[in-house]
Amino acid sequence: MKKSPETKRSLIRFVTWILSITAVMYVSSVPAQQINPLESDPRAARAGGVLFRSQCATCHGGDAKGITGIEAPDLTLIWAAVGTTDERVFQTIRNGVPGSIMPAHGFTDPETWMLVSYLRSVAATGATEFSGDAVRGSGLFLSNCARCHRVRGEGGSLGPDLSQITSRRSAAALVNSVREPSATIARRYHSVSLVFEGLSAGASGSRQRIQGTLKSEDAFSIQMMDTNQQLRAFMKADLLEFVRESDSLMPAFSRTDLSSAELEDILTFLQSQL
Ligand code: HEC
Ligand code: HEC
Repeated sequence: MKKSPETKRSLIRFVTWILSITAVMYVSSVPAQQINPLESDPRAARAGGVLFRSQCATCHGGDAKGITGIEAPDLTLIWAAVGTTDERVFQTIRNGVPGSIMPAHGFTDPETWMLVSYLRSVAATGATEFSGDAVRGSGLFLSNCARCHRVRGEGGSLGPDLSQITSRRSAAALVNSVREPSATIARRYHSVSLVFEGLSAGASGSRQRIQGTLKSEDAFSIQMMDTNQQLRAFMKADLLEFVRESDSLMPAFSRTDLSSAELEDILTFLQSQL
């Protein structure tokens, strides 16, 4: 197919753009950049998206939100974590995460910054303003939620840490998580139940059934947290039963369990804990 002069011209413009930023980067490449030099260039995020879909999507998903069953994080949430900076993300992409399957990547500096720009552009924003009573919410949280959820390092671990949840989820998603927990299940918190032969002095007959959240899994083994919040590991070959449950381990809170005003208070408390 013959390229039209228009296509050719825009191709040339694109290549010139790449070359010019490569030159700028080269000149300013020592010492390491602290901020993203392409931050204000919308084309960078688009080019980064193309790179992302070809190099990262197999693990992180085409929309960077992760893929069920693969233990790579939802990258739209990383900016809400304390201490995440453009520079840190740049280094993570370049060096990978040692001891995990996240590989090092040999991209040029501009390409790596394009990926950072892309990840910025898909960052999840919650930023809802809840206007309940945080003090009352704190008490309600303690009595209804804290045995399974941590906030600022305190509470249980069966469910996810909720310290920054209001900046990462929309109000609708938060309400839905509480009213209908099984509708969408947080990554690494899928529930499983298993049966195994307990270790006992006698012969057989000490079958144990436990439930918990699946933390990781490979061809031979699983790691899970049981409902007593103990981390446990099993060889699959040792399991008599291994069932992936579709229901969340979180109980659904109906409006009689927790009124809308009470839920608003809890969310106001969580928002005050950012
Ligand atoms: C083979 C699978 C795989 C590929 C391909 C991959 N990643 Fe990852 N990535 C992971 C895993 C797993 C982690 C979590 C590592 C850990 O902390 O244990 C991770 C972590 C990250 C983090 C850190 C997240 C955080 O919590 O701070 C960033 C950023 C990231 N990846 C970006 C990328 C980008 C950009 C690409 C493509 C250039 C990419 N990854 C390709 C598997 C992958
Ligand atoms: C018996 C333990 C348990 C209790 C009690 C509990 N949760 Fe959960 N919660 C979980 C588990 C497990 C998950 C992860 C699975 C899922 O997403 O449903 C979860 C998930 C969530 C999520 C979604 C998090 C995310 O990353 O999207 C929110 C929000 C939440 N809980 C809020 C609450 C609130 C508010 C209360 C109290 C009113 C509460 N939970 C009580 C166990 C619990």
